[in-house]
Amino acid sequence: MSIKHSINIQRLPRHIAIIMDGNGRWATSKGEDRLYGHWHGVESVRDIATGAAELGIKYITLYAFSTENWDRPAYEVNGLMELLIETIRKEVPTLNKNNIKLHVIGNVSMLPDAAKAELNEALQETSSNTGLNLIMALSYSSRWEITEAVKAIATEVKQGKLQVNDINQDTIKNYLTTKGYPDPELMIRTSGEYRISNFLLYQLAYAELYFTDTLWPDFRKEDLYKAIIDYQSRERRFGKTSEQVKKVDS
Ligand code: FPP
Repeated sequence: MSIKHSINIQRLPRHIAIIMDGNGRWATSKGEDRLYGHWHGVESVRDIATGAAELGIKYITLYAFSTENWDRPAYEVNGLMELLIETIRKEVPTLNKNNIKLHVIGNVSMLPDAAKAELNEALQETSSNTGLNLIMALSYSSRWEITEAVKAIATEVKQGKLQVNDINQDTIKNYLTTKGYPDPELMIRTSGEYRISNFLLYQLAYAELYFTDTLWPDFRKEDLYKAIIDYQSRERRFGKTSEQVKKVDS
């Protein structure tokens, strides 16, 4: 029996966030250049996106390129941008075939013009899909996002459009790039690293964290299913007691 059948479809996480880590180590271990690992990482993206869509997951956010990644050697940054352009161009038919809608969060203005153009076209071409929402975090970092939100809120207050006393947690949510998406219930990080690395710091407040030693280019839908099964075995208490949570569930 495939592992997929052990998943309780009634209790799927609506939103899964993934830190795709280990591409460089995967390539180096094979005596290859780091970019070789990134190119293979795209196969994992394709596999888990189609796997999640088949299962009925509504949102996946992938940390594809962080604000800090701009500081990598130029050849790697350029290689990743080329990969981004190539991938988007090639994968749009797969997205449409699987009813997947592409979204992007991050400081997209920093991307090269060719990447921006390709991205805009893909966003447009997948905009009427109604299945999985695939959110690519590109040139993204949580501290950047929160700083932008604070600036926007301060501007509204200064212009008299928002009262300080009216600011609550929903206000903040509405100024984040993830406005309109539910918070992730599950966050997966591959490659045996135990960090959040400036990813969705506000949104992951109550997410279940799942870490695996598998390097991203080896990660496949079966690994995603394993993470979901692990998530389904956890008791999510949101600060309450176990007894309180069980009473609500029964
Ligand atoms: C982290 O591995 C991975 C990235 C910085 C890039 C992830 C990108 C993809 C999987 C390709 C899809 C994305 C685009 C832009 C199309 P690492 O390089 O930090 O690996 P290491 O920790 O082993 O060095």
